[in-house]
Amino acid sequence: MNRTVTVAKTAGFCFGVDRAVKIAFETAEKGTDRKIYTLGPLIHNPSVVADLEKKGITVINSPSEAEPGDTVIIRSHGVGRSVYEELEKRGVTIVDATCPFVTKIHKLVAERTAAGDLVLIAGDKDHPEVQGILGWTESSADCDKSGKGEAKVFPNCVELVKLLRNNCEKSKKGVAILSQTTYNIGMWNQCIGVVSEFSGITVYDTICTATEKRQSEAGDLSRKCDTMLIIGGRSSSNTRKLYDICSADSRCYLIENSEELKDIDFSTAKSVGISAGASTPAYIIEEVKKDMTEILSNEEEFNFEEAIEQSLKKIYTGKRVSGVVTAVNSTEVIVDIGTKHTGYIPLSELSNDPNAKPEDVVKVGDTIDVIVTKLNDVEGIAMLSKKQVDAQKGYDDVKKAYETGEVLTGTVTNIIKGGVIVTCNGMRVFVPASQTGIRNADSMDSILKKEVRFKIIELNEQRKRAVGSIRKVTAEERAQRKEAFFENAEVGQTILGEVKSITDYGVFVDVGGVDGLVRRMDLTWARIKHPSDVVSVGDHIEVTIKDIDKETGKVSLVYKKTEDNPWVIFEKNYSVGQTVEVKIVSITGFGAFAQIIPGIDGLIHISQIANQRVANVSDFLSVGDVVTAKITDCDIANKRVSLSIRALLPDGDYRPVKETAPVEEAPAEEAAPEEATEE
Ligand code: F3S
Repeated sequence: MNRTVTVAKTAGFCFGVDRAVKIAFETAEKGTDRKIYTLGPLIHNPSVVADLEKKGITVINSPSEAEPGDTVIIRSHGVGRSVYEELEKRGVTIVDATCPFVTKIHKLVAERTAAGDLVLIAGDKDHPEVQGILGWTESSADCDKSGKGEAKVFPNCVELVKLLRNNCEKSKKGVAILSQTTYNIGMWNQCIGVVSEFSGITVYDTICTATEKRQSEAGDLSRKCDTMLIIGGRSSSNTRKLYDICSADSRCYLIENSEELKDIDFSTAKSVGISAGASTPAYIIEEVKKDMTEILSNEEEFNFEEAIEQSLKKIYTGKRVSGVVTAVNSTEVIVDIGTKHTGYIPLSELSNDPNAKPEDVVKVGDTIDVIVTKLNDVEGIAMLSKKQVDAQKGYDDVKKAYETGEVLTGTVTNIIKGGVIVTCNGMRVFVPASQTGIRNADSMDSILKKEVRFKIIELNEQRKRAVGSIRKVTAEERAQRKEAFFENAEVGQTILGEVKSITDYGVFVDVGGVDGLVRRMDLTWARIKHPSDVVSVGDHIEVTIKDIDKETGKVSLVYKKTEDNPWVIFEKNYSVGQTVEVKIVSITGFGAFAQIIPGIDGLIHISQIANQRVANVSDFLSVGDVVTAKITDCDIANKRVSLSIRALLPDGDYRPVKETAPVEEAPAEEAAPEEATEE
């Protein structure tokens, strides 16, 4: 027979109770030389009340029991205004742990009754929350006696109808209806149904959704299970309501803790559902679940060997144990460590990353290693730390990496004076600024929150501190790439590289661990003012290896492409005898140079400018003129092209002399060649 135990997800502390318990423990933590009280039991749970007592927080039932200077914690149920006033009058420090949802009701009641309205509250008139709510009733100064604002409590819709009829017949007051936060949702819906028969009524839905969800899930569970356990204080109204809901569909038991299980006969139970009131701590629910599971399995089969093993399994503070995650919530993770103890990992002990969410770190069913940090055999609680195990593992990894020279991967989590902190498997490793590989300390931000690869270069085993180097890894990797480059590289090979720096004489390109130089003349075929006219730092460019010197480690590269060579283009597209339109680019004493295509200038010799005798070239041509000329000669090998304007002029066609042509003299030492060209 497969017997099951199912715990409702919404079982246990609600937001308001959780908050109140935390506030109380924090108040105890802060400490005071005077007494600390809760006004009434903080929650309806004897175990929590006993825990608070151990921390020095005791219960008083009236403000008059507190002395001036004492601290009084107001519980999540809240209290009426007069209680605050009395405490203040007595000089008591008030710590208000009223649930914010209840505070909202206080404000509503105060506002509506101050306006002279009648406020009807669905709930139990003797419940402390309802008592507190009634304590915020205000009388309106503007109302006459019959119109005075007041609040009344009704337990069910029958009583509500009576109240509404009475009010409608006797007065013209406005009416507001709201409820105690833990009121039964089904009964509330009935009340809302009857309200529609009356006019002028405002309904405020103040049932807390935590209660609604808990009740609805418990109801669903009770329909699936033959037996239900409701855990909570017997005086807790929301626990009793859960019990009432679940009793309708299953055999239901209300218990305060796992001790009470032994008085119940589960021999016929096949499926047991568990829910718990808002005041029940998670560890009690976990204990009940654990014991219930044991009862069902023991009844099925008593495993003697397992029982012996269980009893022999000893744990102690500082012991590292394995456990299975059984629950994950926003404040803690519960772990079954295979003993009678219930294991808790508080959020602060779960992960080294302060921003990590518990559900991102572990999930139910995970087997994890933890260290026992505190043991309470009486209460059966073991406080655990996963963070310490992670840090230990991180240290072991770092130590191994130090011994073997292994490269580690981590994330830069902090920039500190003198360097950065890299976190690797929970271990913090210091990397001095000089070992980051970043020249400018101000640029350290560029690696913050980034993953980096590093080596451990120093380890202090006593203090468990390590120093790392990112630069060592990059330098070694670069050396390896350099070696591989010289092994495989060949002249004429075309490779991809990244422009690292630009100088007047050329460009350095990283071609894989080696910075090769592209000289200015090998950068482009065109005339340029500076290499930066062609490329920028960071550009990825294709270069051809021109020369390799393995001894000196120098590599010459070429960026300009053969197919872009203007002489190749010229040879393909132009021939002697062809007429071309050219642009005068310079004037000399022996003629003018004219651009045919970018990179190819032809010479128009002084004798080829006009039919008549030309004394000064500038009498006929100026820089920038576009003229038609004939290619009269071409010497590709010596890179010379001759042009003639005259060859296109009919005999006797004389060209007019320019009036104001600028004169550009040829350099004195330059001899006039017969026919010449500039590259
Ligand atoms: Fe507050 Fe709802 Fe709990 S009202 S105390 S969160 S049940």
